[in-house]
Amino acid sequence: ENESTLAIVKPDGISGNYTSSIRKIILESGFSVQKELTVHLDEDSVRSFYDEHSTKSFFPSLVKYMTSGPVLIMVLQKVNAIADWRALIGPTDALKAKVTHPHSIRAMCGQDLGRNCVHGSDSHDSAEREISFFFTKTYPGIEP
Ligand code: CMP
Repeated sequence: ENESTLAIVKPDGISGNYTSSIRKIILESGFSVQKELTVHLDEDSVRSFYDEHSTKSFFPSLVKYMTSGPVLIMVLQKVNAIADWRALIGPTDALKAKVTHPHSIRAMCGQDLGRNCVHGSDSHDSAEREISFFFTKTYPGIEP
């Protein structure tokens, strides 16, 4: 069944010039890019997007990281998009990914547990929430 998921190329992915490699992997893996938006997020947006992590010890560094530069936010569509995009990006910890999933996107462009260069929704509920979080009247995105 066709589904949509939210992908983010995080500030380190953009500043490390990984955008075109990531886009190539996305298209070659059979996803279509339904919407996309490049934006420099402010602290309030990041805090609210990552609300479920607000009590974690790494939250301040997550907010600092995600506001450190522009991000590319995309809605990806294909059959089984949510699980397939998570598989493609690899484990959260990019250092581990380099060992256990060397062909994953995080192994390619991530640096460590925090700075892992890409995001993917982890469930149907998160995908719905995250897509509507960014693609609203305030951040309408564009049709590619
Ligand atoms: P992501 O899966 O996009 O969403 C939560 C983010 O928080 C995660 O990627 C990492 O960037 C960061 N993160 C998760 N766990 C940790 C951790 N233990 N220490 C530092 N950052 C983390």
